[in-house]
Amino acid sequence: MKNVVITGSTRGIGLAMTKVFLREGCNVTISGRSASIPDTLNKELLKYNGKYQYISCNVRKRSDIEVLWEKASDQWGSIDIWINNAGQNCPYEFSYDTAASAVDAVIDTNIKGVIFGSQVAAKNMLLQGGGQIWNMEGLGSNDMLQVKTILYGTTKHALTYFTRGLAKELAGTPVKAGRLSPGMMLTDFITKTPEGYESPVIKNKSFQFVFNTLADRPETVAAFFVPNMLKNKKNDAHLVWLTNAKSIARFMKSPFVKRKLI
Ligand SMILES: NC(=O)c1ccc[n+]([C@@H]2O[C@H](COP(=O)([O-])OP(=O)(O)OC[C@H]3O[C@@H](n4cnc5c(N)ncnc54)[C@H](OP(=O)(O)O)[C@@H]3O)[C@@H](O)[C@H]2O)c1
Repeated sequence: MKNVVITGSTRGIGLAMTKVFLREGCNVTISGRSASIPDTLNKELLKYNGKYQYISCNVRKRSDIEVLWEKASDQWGSIDIWINNAGQNCPYEFSYDTAASAVDAVIDTNIKGVIFGSQVAAKNMLLQGGGQIWNMEGLGSNDMLQVKTILYGTTKHALTYFTRGLAKELAGTPVKAGRLSPGMMLTDFITKTPEGYESPVIKNKSFQFVFNTLADRPETVAAFFVPNMLKNKKNDAHLVWLTNAKSIARFMKSPFVKRKLI
């Protein structure tokens, strides 16, 4: 039974991983920017074996992340697994058209939020004598260039470099850093704009084909990540859901196997 913290776990893959950890009997600190989570979600989470608490944390603020560590370790004693999952997409438009406020949001959340989260977790895990830090990759982590998603890809490219470097810096210590590569998932992140409206990308026919071929529900990806994190003993581990082989197989099967997510 492990004590787990997940940033950005009110929805999407963060919430899906929370449920798998709770099913495994872990104690989970979930978080997001709101002061609290809806009663319906509280009722649902109470059904699982493990215990949970919700702590408000905007990863753009380092002080919030420090409070998240303090409250989680006060509650459970120590933290075994810390997942920097909170992420923001950029507006679906050319990078040169994107407003400064949207540039700030995506850089602050995906780069600074992950760096602050990793710093707070690494320093405290070194003090407590061990732990694992996992950072959530995305488009750009593998160098792919996708127009109108360049700002987001820039942040994930940086996150991958940072996390590999962090693992190198932690080598020989009892603290490990690793990366989670989820592929494509049907979440608000894809279907909605950062402001919560329907995303224009889901009306694009070629995007629909690629997404329906390659994407999965977050629950499927969480069911792969969580057991592998729980048994991981390696520093610099890289858990990849959508491998190149799986992508090729899905494209080859696409004329015969119809997958429809959007
Ligand atoms: N969906 C995909 O296809 C895909 C593919 C590759 C990688 N990813 C990555 O997976 C991660 C989760 O994405 P998702 O698809 O699950 O997205 P999602 O459903 O939109 O969920 C995003 C989560 O992040 C939280 N969040 C956003 N900004 C935050 C901030 N400043 N501080 C704290 N929490 C914040 C949100 O919580 P509140 O709104 O409650 O604050 C929410 O819980 C992201 O890092 C994303 O880049 C997603």
